[in-house]
Amino acid sequence: MKGNFDASIHNEGYSARFDTRGLNVEGMIFVEGREREPLNGMWHTVLDQYDTGLRDNWHIPKGPNAQGQQIPYDYHAEQGELSWVPGCWNLIKPEYFWFEGSVWYSRAFPYAPVDTGERVFLRIGGANYDTKVFLNAEFLGNHCGGSTPFFCELTGRLTRENTIQVCVNNTRTADRVPMRNTDWFNWGGLYRDVELIRVPALFIRDFTIHLVPDDTFRNVAVEVRLSDPRHRGTLTLAIPELELENELAVRDGVCRETLRAEPALWSPESPRCYDVRVRCGKDQVADRVGFRQVKVQGTDILLNGAPIFLRGICVHEDDALKGKYSDSQDISRRFRDARDLGCNFLRLAHYPHHELVAKMADDLGFLLWEEIPVYWAIDFQNPSTYADAENQLSELIHRDFNRASVITWSVGNENADTDDRLHFMKNLALKARALDPTRLVTAACLVNHEKIRIEDRLIQYLDVIGVNEYYGWYNPDIEELDVLFRNSRPDKPVIISEFGADARAGHHGTISEKFTEEYMERVYEVQIRAIRAMDYVKGLTPWILYDFTCPRRQNRYQGGFNRKGLIAEDKKTRKKAFSVLQAFYREKSQRN
Ligand code: GCU
Repeated sequence: MKGNFDASIHNEGYSARFDTRGLNVEGMIFVEGREREPLNGMWHTVLDQYDTGLRDNWHIPKGPNAQGQQIPYDYHAEQGELSWVPGCWNLIKPEYFWFEGSVWYSRAFPYAPVDTGERVFLRIGGANYDTKVFLNAEFLGNHCGGSTPFFCELTGRLTRENTIQVCVNNTRTADRVPMRNTDWFNWGGLYRDVELIRVPALFIRDFTIHLVPDDTFRNVAVEVRLSDPRHRGTLTLAIPELELENELAVRDGVCRETLRAEPALWSPESPRCYDVRVRCGKDQVADRVGFRQVKVQGTDILLNGAPIFLRGICVHEDDALKGKYSDSQDISRRFRDARDLGCNFLRLAHYPHHELVAKMADDLGFLLWEEIPVYWAIDFQNPSTYADAENQLSELIHRDFNRASVITWSVGNENADTDDRLHFMKNLALKARALDPTRLVTAACLVNHEKIRIEDRLIQYLDVIGVNEYYGWYNPDIEELDVLFRNSRPDKPVIISEFGADARAGHHGTISEKFTEEYMERVYEVQIRAIRAMDYVKGLTPWILYDFTCPRRQNRYQGGFNRKGLIAEDKKTRKKAFSVLQAFYREKSQRN
């Protein structure tokens, strides 16, 4: 039993001082075209089930006490098993699979300044969920949100040898976003890249470029925000392939200009991107950007002025061998399978996916729906939950603003139409529009089952209506689908953002036997027959490309997986319904 000199055992208010949420969108930096020093690799990894690390300040090495006696310590940053970062702790070893709570990652790294006055930032591409950063025994701040990048300034705190500790907590709670009940697995850890970014004293904090959506396709809007809000001077913007090189004025740290240019327009059929470079003082960034315009007109979605049908599919970031970790290999396979299906569109459910997805979609010619995990019964009355959701939305928009492939920001999925929810999600929709007037705002709404109608008060704040409907599955009466469409008269484009049925790959039977491939196939046939007859439906993203890990699914066909994938969790075995959707998309793409 510890003596009474250890106050930590009595301090139940230990976490507040580590929940400052200072690592948020305000600290984001534009990183494209910058050198990045990876801190990926083997990190000491210690599970901390009781949050002893925060109670007992594991970030402060326990030296000898005032009398010079060594105090026993329960943790050391250079001890603990090694695991590979980026990765999910659930896959380090079987006994860690179901662990939810805090995990401490630590490693040492050297630092030597390269340039006088340089500033150094830690960047973490994504960590689930609440991530606290400690450097050389100092708490630097925490970030909330399991899928967006964040930065932490290290300038002035670095020595020749440094110890970094990162405590990641993925406990599911009522006030988080997502909250404690989801239909996907709660992978935990530092599962995206960890790196150092060096920038000069004056640097480019943000850079956005896009076609002005004014139907001329000839105006390019540029905004560059510098680290010093008082800076006055000039910067150079170059798009060599458009023979464009301009010296632009910077006032009060900002350059905002509209330039005349004639870019070839980006589209899935011709994903033309251009190299763009911005230089200011000692700093330079670069990006590869496509120029396109997306708008709605009545119930049409117009891409570059022409109506488009979105042939889509939903995807999760989930893999039995890699968890939520994704690399270019996984992402290319996802696009390959979607291409085989005949898709030109993906719904990235229900949270921001790896940043590589949008970059690869820019090059490969896929359109994207990106979403924040305002999922099911979020604590809509809670202001800090709102602040968390809004921050995740802002970080996502900041990260992917220049991606031509991204056409919609979704502010949530399947939330009951209550007053608190309406207020909460209306504000998110308005925030998305304020941050980005060039894209469409949407959400995956539920059907009003009483009236069998597409009806939701949030629709007035959306550009495109996402509708999740499971006729033929959760609503066994598939014929009601026609009633739904007949009863509904939306004046905006509708995307059927989910429909589907579970089937275990290789399990066969009659079309009325649930969980068989034949039952699933029939659901797709009937859904497609109904949807093709609906003029206001301008896209669909059936649920889902692959079976995925889900603790909520425990019957003998599911065995811990949601089985609505068109392809099994081995990412190879295709179910019969795959060909049904493929045939429809082939027909659609020939007609478009
Ligand atoms: C919901 C939800 C998904 C879920 C799916 C299902 O609509 O949005 O996250 O996995 O239905 O029940 O399979």
